[in-house]
Amino acid sequence: SLKANIGKYRFNNVLLNAAGIRCATTDELTKILRSTAGGCVTKSATPQPREGNESPRMKATPLGCINSMGLPNHGLDYYLKFAEENQGKNDNQVILSIAGLSVDQNLEMLHQIQDSSFDGLTELNLSCPNIKGESQIAYDFEAVRDILTKAFDFFTKDIGIKLPPYFDLHQFDQIADVLNEFPIAYVNSINSIGNGLIVNPETESVVLKPKGGFGGLGGDYVKPTALANVRGLRLRLKPEIAIIGTGGIKSGRDVFEHILCGANVVQIGTAFGFEDVKIFDRISKELKEIMAEKGYTSLDDFRGKLKTL
Ligand code: DHB
Repeated sequence: SLKANIGKYRFNNVLLNAAGIRCATTDELTKILRSTAGGCVTKSATPQPREGNESPRMKATPLGCINSMGLPNHGLDYYLKFAEENQGKNDNQVILSIAGLSVDQNLEMLHQIQDSSFDGLTELNLSCPNIKGESQIAYDFEAVRDILTKAFDFFTKDIGIKLPPYFDLHQFDQIADVLNEFPIAYVNSINSIGNGLIVNPETESVVLKPKGGFGGLGGDYVKPTALANVRGLRLRLKPEIAIIGTGGIKSGRDVFEHILCGANVVQIGTAFGFEDVKIFDRISKELKEIMAEKGYTSLDDFRGKLKTL
């Protein structure tokens, strides 16, 4: 079976969408909930609705995509209402993603969630790379400690943290030390690799309008970085903190690799954009075939069991 769980939250399938891709409207979210996926993640919300950055702001390439969306979303009220109405049916979880533009905006949204009837997982996105003039919070370890200290002062529901990719092993040590101080349900690694640049040699131009063309990378570009982050964090985080593996998943084999590195659940972003909800059927089938060949009957049979040489 492809069932998985994060603490007490059960997922009827290990596959979820990643925040940002085909998950901004209730129609899109409902379509994911009705699919083979084990639940849905909502587009990262800000306190008020936002238009986001100017277009073109996303471009597909043969190896993935680059985006500088700038958090276009319908605002927290919209996603919180959907989450309240759809939470936890048939082991299909709704994960509510929030991405405030400041510490205060994040705390304001957490207060609103605390005061609501939503009792599922909230994903605090500390890694959006596309807001002009803002830096990615999770590259500032003291800022992460500060926001989590303030959040856990009043927030009693379950929280996951969406992290950016780290590239130095000392960064893995530092972020794990901070996160291990708190009762976090999970971390989600990785968000896009921020501020890549795709160049079109024919037009001699960048391909995105915002930020001079710089944008977050997803797809094949990011898989080895994602696997390193899942593995690096699994080796450092306390066992009570689960891991969602995100980055470069487009086949059953990619999911298998993420789980070997320690992922409890996985999310699919770029490839879900290319393929829509039928991707959850295809990848489930591919993963089951790999497991059958190897004689594995549950994900626990190989989770985190990556061998070293
Ligand atoms: C956006 C992109 C991200 O990678 C993210 O984590 C949040 C928001 C965006 O530009 O909308």
